[in-house]
Amino acid sequence: MTIQTKFAITRSEIAGVPVAELAEQYGTPTFVYDAEIIRQRIEQLRSFDVIRYAQKANSNLSVLKLMREQGVVVDAVSAGEILRAEAAGYQATGEPHSIVYTADIFDRVSLDMVCEKHIHCNVGSPDMIDQIGQRMPGSEITLRINPGFGHGHSQKTNTGGPQSKHGIWHDQLEDCLQRADHFGVQVTGLHMHIGSGTDFEHLSQVCDAMKAAVQTVGRTVKVISAGGGLPTPYKAQDSHLDIPRYFELWDATRRELQEEFGHAFQLEIEPGRFLTAESGYLISEIRAIKQMGENLFYLVDAGFNNLARPIMYGAYHPMSICHREGAASERTQNVIVGGPLCESGDIFTQQEGGFVEARELPVAGIGDYLIIECAGAYGFVMASNYNSKPFAAEVLVDSGQSKLVRRRQELADIFADEQV
Ligand code: LLP
Repeated sequence: MTIQTKFAITRSEIAGVPVAELAEQYGTPTFVYDAEIIRQRIEQLRSFDVIRYAQKANSNLSVLKLMREQGVVVDAVSAGEILRAEAAGYQATGEPHSIVYTADIFDRVSLDMVCEKHIHCNVGSPDMIDQIGQRMPGSEITLRINPGFGHGHSQKTNTGGPQSKHGIWHDQLEDCLQRADHFGVQVTGLHMHIGSGTDFEHLSQVCDAMKAAVQTVGRTVKVISAGGGLPTPYKAQDSHLDIPRYFELWDATRRELQEEFGHAFQLEIEPGRFLTAESGYLISEIRAIKQMGENLFYLVDAGFNNLARPIMYGAYHPMSICHREGAASERTQNVIVGGPLCESGDIFTQQEGGFVEARELPVAGIGDYLIIECAGAYGFVMASNYNSKPFAAEVLVDSGQSKLVRRRQELADIFADEQV
């Protein structure tokens, strides 16, 4: 029986376009993004002064262009992401900073690039202050602070606390200010991001830590960033974050700071997942169905080379079936869903630690489509060419029209950079 949850287990269309049409036109596996869902998520965050998209979640140029057209600025964590943002039409500088480089190191290429292009830097290690200070004395920077605590949907996405490599440890601020003074560098912003896919309780603890950090740095601070980390629903019982309540907490913090310092503070938010996760679908085709002891497997043509979240974090993604012909089957069965790779961990239905688990999905046949949902964040961007599999195609659907926004990689391109 089809379970009528928010995540139905049968699906015939994505953003108004039939799944079968998308699969036939673009092949499988293919990522499909629904532009309207991204716009809706942006609208939910409009109360923040600045929405800065953490493009690491999905940096397809068309997604970045859509963000830019909606007035969303970007975060870049590498020289490659800076160039991507420019290719999508972002200027290197602007007010608010249209691109901010956020990282815990400058590799040599990124240091050269931020200096040449005058990209604003959000520095996550004290050494970075010296490195930018030597090259660009008198510049303005933001400090990314590790407040001493963190939380994420997995230990691997927790970016705060002493086990994390991220940010400047909260009680080393004085030392950092001295380093900055030495080069005439001004700290104009403070930033905290405690983890990805965290929850309201943990997110809300950041406000007090931010207030304390601003008080330590003083009146040069004009921008505070709440970071990203906003959770999105992947399971039927998950709910959306209460954004108005979250904004209210940050706005209250901002108002207190404004009163104390007598100047305006700009409030930024920096989500990745929240803006794109729910917009994305990975369409795959079922290529083999087999019984292994008591377990039934659907083997599809997408693997962890396309979507690494299940093998990396035991992440749960909703799934649905689209029958190639005829109506959806009413009958369901418990199945394990795996991919084509020559590695036993290539399973989409697994818990953290690699334990496979069965999922109740419609009875399906070879050639039917299996759609892995909520795959718009940390999907394609974490793909690899493992097993010499090509990168999937990416398609954007807007107003009922689908458009190829990244062609499927040619097989020969996989080894095009190699030499014998
Ligand atoms: N800002 C900073 C400084 C970050 O490090 C991150 C994520 C974000 C913003 C955006 O976080 P979000 O709003 O998307 O939670 N691959 C993992 C997520 C790693 C996130 C890394 N940093 C996953 O698939 O869950």
